[in-house]
Amino acid sequence: MGDYKNIFNLRNCTAVITGGAGMLGSEFAGGVASYGANIALVDIDKDKCQNSAQELASEFNIKAKGYCCDITQEDQVNKLAEDLLNDFSSVDILINNAAVQPPGFFASLCDYPLSTWQKVLDVNMTAVFLMVKYISPHMKKRKQGNIINVSSIYGVVAPDQRIYRGAEYRGNQINTPLAYSATKGAIVQMTRYLAAYFAADGIRVNCITPGGVYSGQNKTFLENYSARVPLGRMAHRHEITGAVIFLASPASSYMTGQNIIVDGGWTIW
Ligand SMILES: NC(=O)c1ccc[n+]([C@@H]2O[C@H](COP(=O)([O-])OP(=O)(O)OC[C@H]3O[C@@H](n4cnc5c(N)ncnc54)[C@H](O)[C@@H]3O)[C@@H](O)[C@H]2O)c1
Repeated sequence: MGDYKNIFNLRNCTAVITGGAGMLGSEFAGGVASYGANIALVDIDKDKCQNSAQELASEFNIKAKGYCCDITQEDQVNKLAEDLLNDFSSVDILINNAAVQPPGFFASLCDYPLSTWQKVLDVNMTAVFLMVKYISPHMKKRKQGNIINVSSIYGVVAPDQRIYRGAEYRGNQINTPLAYSATKGAIVQMTRYLAAYFAADGIRVNCITPGGVYSGQNKTFLENYSARVPLGRMAHRHEITGAVIFLASPASSYMTGQNIIVDGGWTIW
C-alpha cells in the first residue's frame, strides 16, 4: 500500500521558482512552501522577490531566499546556479514560470517590433533552456530532479481574436500576440523533449497550462472570456496552484513529459 498521507510532502526539498515575485510565481511558492519545501525566488525585481522570500520564511517556517537575476543572461544564470547550491544543500524542484510583456507587446502583428519579439523569446523560452542548462547537471549528479514548466492555453490552441474587442487590462488595450503563443507552444514541446532526454537521469519534466487568471481585466474582457469557458469564468490564482503542488510532489512520481491543462475547460471545445 502507498504512503498516501505523505504523498504531497515536500520537507527537505528546495524549489526554485523563476518569476517568483510575480502574480502566479508567488502563489506557486506559497503552495509548495505549504507542504514544507524551502524556496528560492528568482526574479529581476530584487526588492519584491527578497521581501516575498522573507514573508514565506516566517509564514511557513522554512528556508527562503530571493535572488535578483536576469535569467536571459547566461553569466547571471551560471552564477545563480552556484549561489543556489551554496545556499541550499540541493535543488530538487525547478519551476520555470517567468514571462515578460515588454514595451510593444500588444502591437499588431505587422507593426510588431523585432526587439519586442526577441525579448519575449529570450525570457519565455531561451531562459528556460539556460535554467535547465545550469541546474540539471546538479540534478543529474543526484539522480533526482523535478522540472515544471509553465505554458498557457495559447500555447495549445490559437487565441480567439474576437474576445479582444473592447478588452482592456489596467487601462491598456490587450490581445495575445504571436510571440506569446509561439513561446508557450515551444514550452509544451520542450517539456516533452526534456522529459525524454532526462528520464534515465531520474529527472521528471512536466508542464502546467493555465487558462486566464483574474487580475484586473475590464468588464468587457471578463464577459467575452467567460462566454468561451465551459465553467463560465476566469481562474482565481490559487486554482492554478494545486496542479503545481501535484507535479512538484511524490504524488506524480510516475509522470513525466505531460501537460496538465487548468483552464475551466477552455480547450475542450
Ligand atoms: N496570468 C495569467 O492569466 C496566465 C495565464 C496563462 C499562463 N500564464 C503564465 O504564468 C506565468 C506567470 O504569469 P504571471 O501572470 O504571474 O506573470 P507576472 O508578470 O505577474 O510574473 C512574471 C515575473 O517574471 C519576472 N521576469 C520577467 N523577466 C525576467 C527576467 N529576465 N529574469 C527574471 N525574472 C523575470 C517578472 O519580474 C515577474 O515578476 C507565465 O509564464 C505566464 O505566461 C499566466
